[in-house]
Amino acid sequence: MRKFDNYNFADVDASIVATHMMMEIADLGLGTTWVGHFDEPLLKKEFPEMKDYELIAIFPVGYPAEDAKPAERHNIRKTVEEAVEYL
Ligand SMILES: Cc1cc2nc3c(=O)[nH]c(=O)nc-3n(C[C@H](O)[C@H](O)[C@H](O)COP(=O)(O)O)c2cc1C
Repeated sequence: MRKFDNYNFADVDASIVATHMMMEIADLGLGTTWVGHFDEPLLKKEFPEMKDYELIAIFPVGYPAEDAKPAERHNIRKTVEEAVEYL
């Protein structure tokens, strides 16, 4: 909790850890993607060991297919001017 406004930083902290997990997965020569669209009650029913946790992300992990390539829009990026506002 951030003491100034009691903002709960748990999602941010978990996301930082999760990002490092993705980089480690890539370093191991494996592939994954961040899945945030999942049925939490169903997952907890199927995997009761997760019942006491707030789920932030799921990472399916595997060996990418030989012809795997990034999504079509992967390299389309906004310019810095479009993405950043200097205050
Ligand atoms: C917070 C977050 C949630 C995501 N949820 C999903 C998801 O539910 N299903 C999915 O296939 N990909 C999900 N992704 C992965 C994105 O669709 C995308 O593959 C990834 O961000 C890479 O994007 P890029 O190709 O622009 O680099 C998620 C990514 C982020 C950052």
